[in-house]
Amino acid sequence: MLIAGNWKMNGDSAQVDAFARDVKSAAGELAAQLLVCVPFVYIDRMGRELADSSVALGAQNIAAEVDAGAFTGEVNGAMLADTGCSQVIVGHSERRALYGETDAVVAAKTTAAVAAGLKPIVCVGETLEQRDADQAEAVLGAQIAALFDQCDAATLAQVTIAYEPIWAIGTGRSATPEQAQAIHAFLRGQIADRDVTLSQSVQLLYGGSVKPDNAAALFAGADVDGALVGGASLKADSFLDIARAAG
Ligand code: G3P
Repeated sequence: MLIAGNWKMNGDSAQVDAFARDVKSAAGELAAQLLVCVPFVYIDRMGRELADSSVALGAQNIAAEVDAGAFTGEVNGAMLADTGCSQVIVGHSERRALYGETDAVVAAKTTAAVAAGLKPIVCVGETLEQRDADQAEAVLGAQIAALFDQCDAATLAQVTIAYEPIWAIGTGRSATPEQAQAIHAFLRGQIADRDVTLSQSVQLLYGGSVKPDNAAALFAGADVDGALVGGASLKADSFLDIARAAG
């Protein structure tokens, strides 16, 4: 199980220090792998504060360009790896909706991440309108198809998929455990149609209003391999409680 925290554009130095202190002291007792993805400017600080712990560091975005150069404001995979990141979130719905990231951009960033030795956590998810129109599987299937069409096998072997229904993000309304498991089984099936071995090893995370009180039920799903946690990852207490629910 992987419990990943996505701080989004939140936090400051004091919050990084407090979070790291509390998580570091508890992480050793947990069976789940912990990962924390803070804003770029705090990655180095979080890494130093978490030094010698089992907690992994990640980023929330990556440049599609692999090589350094004239790309003002961008951060490439080599820089993330150099700063201690082992994973990176790619194609979060906020980046797709607010910053125009298409499936092609998501695939390019996924490829760039693996080229730098990072494991990409590729986010997929449907809107409420799409779910209500019974289009969730079509939308998710197309997102998976685009990834498989545009990334090579070596890249896909490193990918983690996060199912984040857009209607559940930051709303307090999580998918039910049954809804999450059904979509995770669907996603695994989509991957199995292309690569059975990969479908058995790929980690499928659920994201969208995961809290300490709903985590255990979500994790009971056979195809739920962890969580991508937003708001509840900002405080060590709630993040650790979610991790404890993972067993
Ligand atoms: O990437 C995590 C995320 O989008 C879910 O956010 O606040 O609903 O847990 P939240």
